[in-house]
Amino acid sequence: MTTQLDAPALDLERVQEFAMKVAVDRAIAYNGVLAHLGDRLGLWRSLASVERTTSAQLAQRSGLAERYVREWLATQAAIGYLTYDPATTTFALPAEHAMVLADDDSPAAGVAGFEVITAVYASVDRLAHAYATGDGVPWHDHDPRLFAGVDRFFRTLYRNSLFSEWLPAVTGLMERLESGIRVIDVGCGLGSAVVMMAERFPRSTFVGIDSHAESVRRATEAAEAAGVGDRVRFEVSDAATFTGSYDLVCFFDSVHDLGDPVGALAHCRGRLAEGGQVFAVEPFATDRLEDSLDSPVTLTYYAASSALCVPHSISDGGAALGAQAGPARLTAAFVDAGFATARVAAETPFNLVIEARA
Ligand SMILES: C[S@@+](CC[C@H](N)C(=O)[O-])C[C@H]1O[C@@H](n2cnc3c(N)ncnc32)[C@H](O)[C@@H]1O
Repeated sequence: MTTQLDAPALDLERVQEFAMKVAVDRAIAYNGVLAHLGDRLGLWRSLASVERTTSAQLAQRSGLAERYVREWLATQAAIGYLTYDPATTTFALPAEHAMVLADDDSPAAGVAGFEVITAVYASVDRLAHAYATGDGVPWHDHDPRLFAGVDRFFRTLYRNSLFSEWLPAVTGLMERLESGIRVIDVGCGLGSAVVMMAERFPRSTFVGIDSHAESVRRATEAAEAAGVGDRVRFEVSDAATFTGSYDLVCFFDSVHDLGDPVGALAHCRGRLAEGGQVFAVEPFATDRLEDSLDSPVTLTYYAASSALCVPHSISDGGAALGAQAGPARLTAAFVDAGFATARVAAETPFNLVIEARA
């Protein structure tokens, strides 16, 4: 199709404006991989350890080739991640930027998101095939950077909100965890949420299950390293077939990934002990697309869902709720699974917390 620039009613100024927007988006997309390189090669951390640096000094400190480092620094100055002083040809990472790019323990840590994006780029051929055929792309078939990147990215959210906002939103849950209950995390990934809870609630016991064996192996290592290996067990299992009886079933960013969420939730309901409940943390979403079209959070989650969540759910059975299912569809899945009550217990800018009782 060729649109003639002299086609009637074509606003050339708007063409130009939009072409510039796409050019900026393209540049930002380029830098997604470069920002990840900065993380992977320790450039951000090295920049955070000095006030200003030349490319030669940074290359030497990080053991990298100066010519690459010089080009990379210029790119990061052009995108506004670094400041540049032409008089001294030095670059600096402002402390506020370092909190986002150079410190995984900071409440604003965000650099791991670029690791996830790099993994998505690596899956482009699989995704093209899936889009053409309608087949799925299982979570575990993605580039391994996905698993580590997602875990690091979510860990910041869990550190910021799990004990201060999410768990307290469910009446009495913190007290129950402190008193000692049996907890399972379904779709636990690399297990950060479970390990954090085990560290915080020494009287409770924890099981994490995931259908991805490599994630379970790494989660087990993480629990050992955190010194909670005696109270945390990770198993390769499926959300619809795991065994045991629990007082609390947790889902962290995984209900919408399931191929058969209603079937799996019905199974979870059957595994609940008397008085047990389900606690599910999901991406923030509105029920109607038009209610959050201008939100960068919506954009991020829809983009992730188009490349990761929907393809996995299709490969796992097909419900494909997607990461932007919204409160109505999510709570309906619990009700369809036979839960007596399902409600949104808390909403934060990035998440919805759903509580359900059998
Ligand atoms: C987005 S990740 C979230 C991982 C982890 N909960 C976290 O917060 O970092 C979703 C996880 O659900 C797992 N998963 C997907 N379908 C599953 C199923 N049917 N049974 C068990 N785990 C499943 C995936 O392997 C993946 O580790």
